[in-house]
Amino acid sequence: MSSGGGDGAARESFGSSRGFILAAVGSAVGLGNMWRFSYTAAEGGGAAFVFLYIALTLLIGIPIMLAEMAAGRSGRLSPIGALRKAGGKGWAPMGFLYVLSGLLILSYYSVIAGWTVRYAIEAIVSGFPADSGAHFTAISTGPAAMGFHLLFMGLTMAIVMGGVEKGIERASTLMMPALFVILVGLAMWAFTLDGAGEGYAYYLTPTWGDILDGPTFAAAAAQAFFSLSLGMGAMLTFASYLGKDQNLPKEATIISFADFGVAFIAGLVVFPIVFALGLQNDVSESTVGALFIALPGAFSEMGAGRLVGSLFFIALLVGALTSAISLLEVVVSSVIDEFDITRKKATLYAGGLIATLGLASAYDTNILGVIDAIAGELFLVIGGLGLAILVGYRMKGAREELEMGTTPFFKVGLDVVFFFLRYVVPPIVIFVIYDRLMNVINVVQTTWFAG
Ligand code: PHE
Repeated sequence: MSSGGGDGAARESFGSSRGFILAAVGSAVGLGNMWRFSYTAAEGGGAAFVFLYIALTLLIGIPIMLAEMAAGRSGRLSPIGALRKAGGKGWAPMGFLYVLSGLLILSYYSVIAGWTVRYAIEAIVSGFPADSGAHFTAISTGPAAMGFHLLFMGLTMAIVMGGVEKGIERASTLMMPALFVILVGLAMWAFTLDGAGEGYAYYLTPTWGDILDGPTFAAAAAQAFFSLSLGMGAMLTFASYLGKDQNLPKEATIISFADFGVAFIAGLVVFPIVFALGLQNDVSESTVGALFIALPGAFSEMGAGRLVGSLFFIALLVGALTSAISLLEVVVSSVIDEFDITRKKATLYAGGLIATLGLASAYDTNILGVIDAIAGELFLVIGGLGLAILVGYRMKGAREELEMGTTPFFKVGLDVVFFFLRYVVPPIVIFVIYDRLMNVINVVQTTWFAG
């Protein structure tokens, strides 16, 4: 059955291609889509940014996603082993970087998800407090934040412990359609609000000049990496659980556009609400603040706010959970492959370590911001560059791997994909790495060393 993982036990696998697609979309759709995208789009040129983002998804996102899938499915191993197999021993450290990224990203992602758990519960039980700013300050750090972070980690670990088909696939198959239905429903409701027109205008009025700006461009590219879960082996790991009959180019296209679609629709929910309540000035620089202060503030003032707000935070939670699953799975599958221990033990060790690390972010949101800049942005783009070079230039049989199970239409597309991996992705991503490195330095400086 296995085409040569080389080691004892048969590798787990997804039960169906639909299950795989939903799990991968679940990984992609998360906290990154639900607020960050719409906010960056509005600030970065509106509809012009949306076009730029689609272009980046096609130019960089899909090629790198396919590179990950090629390495994962052909290796049938988690990142460290798969990269070693595809490129030789020297590539194993890149796999370690992926595992490290997974550890670090999940450590703070889970803290934000913990706030989400709390908001969802509070919305249902008692509604939104009038002073949402003070509320957020009170709950975002300290023992309560730590508690909800640990609760969320426990939930994530329980699902990952269930395994690929019974845990990850089943959870995603149940939750992703629900998320989509809730979000579309919310967007339709938002359309009926008084400020909707203004909200759409703010979100989508194209200012083409903005996207020619270097930092906006780099931010869009980094956003695409994060949102599509690229550059740290999430898609690689999921693809390692697939059979050769899967049409990877088609699946990568579906996953990427589903991710974009959800991000776009989230903007159609958020901006009408913000404008209906005249809260646009509260939507400050901080994306986290906007999501956890401005919107809850709006919900507390609206007639149907409690119901709508509950649904919104439930959708956000679902997105966060299916993303967290994939982050943890990268670490867990690597531990299983490298140390040859059971999934249960691997999940306990990896999850325990991440939960502990996350306490730092729950203690101080400055730490959260710095880890996000380092692991959530810089590491991902470095990881993406590595993949483009590995699969574009070095890995043998990458092209054949991607041709397996595909149709003539997508085979032609693969010519373009490989051309991009070699000549288009590296220069663009090198620029983005430079920009994000400067950003890390800047964030660290203003957080801890500003006079
Ligand atoms: N794509 C997820 C989101 O948008 C985050 C994520 C990044 C998940 C990297 C896995 C790997 O929220």
